[in-house]
Amino acid sequence: MADVQRTLAIVKPDAAGKPGVAGQILARIEESGLGIVGLKKIQLSDEDACGFYAVHKERPFYAELVKFMTSGPVIVAALEGENAIQRWRDLMGPTDSTKAETGTIRGDFGTDIERNASHGSDAPETAKVELAYFFNAKEILGQVEAL
Ligand code: CMP
Repeated sequence: MADVQRTLAIVKPDAAGKPGVAGQILARIEESGLGIVGLKKIQLSDEDACGFYAVHKERPFYAELVKFMTSGPVIVAALEGENAIQRWRDLMGPTDSTKAETGTIRGDFGTDIERNASHGSDAPETAKVELAYFFNAKEILGQVEAL
């Protein structure tokens, strides 16, 4: 049976702040065959960013990461499709933009390991939690129970 999944995508402030880049990233998502079933542009507060990245709070880069993620608006998107989690991660490329190939989102639009243009959930359980962090059921198309 096809494993239709949902995942959270974030276009981070570095990419969302460059004219035309967010549009290119959203186009790549759609051209890959993934569906965009929820979408909004928001400004994260310190509290929002701290909560979202709470799993990293003991890491040395946490404070800088929160500062970066609140430095300008982000675009959050709910993506849907067969194996959506891995497919979105493949489109992004590795976390460190300096190691990401040309043709990947991080390779083309990111700068380094922190300013890496985009985020994606890493597993079905985290996708569920991360989607619910930014979207309520009415803001995502399709079946409510899949959220
Ligand atoms: P993301 O996929 O959003 O998940 C956690 C984020 O922390 C990651 O992308 C990077 O933006 C950031 N990050 C991860 N590792 C490091 C690091 N070693 N130094 C700075 N930032 C990092």
